[in-house]
Amino acid sequence: MRIAVVGANGQLGRDVAQAFAENGDEVCALIHSQIEVTDFDSVWRVLAQLEPQVIVNTAAMHHVEDCEREPKRAFAVNSLGPRNLALVARDLGAVLMHVSTDYLFDGSKGSPYDETDVPRPLNVYGNTKLAGEYFVRCTTEKHFVVRTSGLYGKHACRGKGGLNFVELMLKLARERVEVRVVADEIVSPTSTEELAQQIMVLRRIECFGLYHATAEGSCSWHDFAREIFTVTNTRINLEVASSNDFPAKVPRPKYSVLENRALKLLGLNTLRPWQDGLRDYLGVPHLCATGRAT
Ligand SMILES: NC(=O)c1ccc[n+]([C@@H]2O[C@H](COP(=O)([O-])OP(=O)(O)OC[C@H]3O[C@@H](n4cnc5c(N)ncnc54)[C@H](OP(=O)(O)O)[C@@H]3O)[C@@H](O)[C@H]2O)c1
Repeated sequence: MRIAVVGANGQLGRDVAQAFAENGDEVCALIHSQIEVTDFDSVWRVLAQLEPQVIVNTAAMHHVEDCEREPKRAFAVNSLGPRNLALVARDLGAVLMHVSTDYLFDGSKGSPYDETDVPRPLNVYGNTKLAGEYFVRCTTEKHFVVRTSGLYGKHACRGKGGLNFVELMLKLARERVEVRVVADEIVSPTSTEELAQQIMVLRRIECFGLYHATAEGSCSWHDFAREIFTVTNTRINLEVASSNDFPAKVPRPKYSVLENRALKLLGLNTLRPWQDGLRDYLGVPHLCATGRAT
């Protein structure tokens, strides 16, 4: 199959492009200088020439503070961009796989959100991503909207300027004797490599629609940091902080755990507990039930 990956030099886009290429697909890896999702003519020109069967959109403006400062640009990239891709995908008869976010929810539920929960974004980023989802869902039937959360991977996150949370913790541990991390924001840290594999599995079916796709389980950022230091045998004084200690300029959900309900109902959930994804990312052996490394 010919697959066009939009945002192909991003943190997730690179792993998606690699996963499809390793599967034997013909991958057209499109970076920002080759396609501008906010410009319909650019989207049409590039994709009509390539005639892909599947378009995977990982492009986004997701720096939350930037989105708040520049809501028009955020709407153009996160809402009109997916609309342009959906219009073109529809006209070309291609499947559109569009990546979305946990930041659509306000966090007040306090238990994992599934695909039937009603979104209520707290900020511009979440609102523009939600509008993008609606544009996709209303424009083309052959779509997958894939919501994920807390991404980390071996490639830099371009929108957030480099280091992912794991690398940031390890860097801080090299520079300081103490690190303080918030314990009252709960997420499901998800490895981009695992998500890319999940996207590959999803495109093999024709059950189009909305899917949550995050690592199994959940933790606070503090729990995540503790696990990083434990599995890497890093000696550091890890202190608990509250989100009030680092007042955010932009409201964010305190709880944004997603349940992969639709994937599980179809027997297609390949995402493992977040601890397993972290160990793979760090290249650390897993422990089996007997305590032996595997
Ligand atoms: N990172 C997370 O923790 C997280 C959590 C939940 C959901 N998500 C979603 O996951 C997806 C992938 O995120 P990521 O972490 O891989 O982001 P990333 O590393 O910042 O990659 C985003 C890519 O989009 C490209 N791009 C931005 N604006 C564009 C435009 N107008 N036209 C064409 N390309 C454009 C960027 O290129 P340039 O850098 O060259 O502009 C970059 O290659 C996004 O949809 C995001 O909303 C991310």
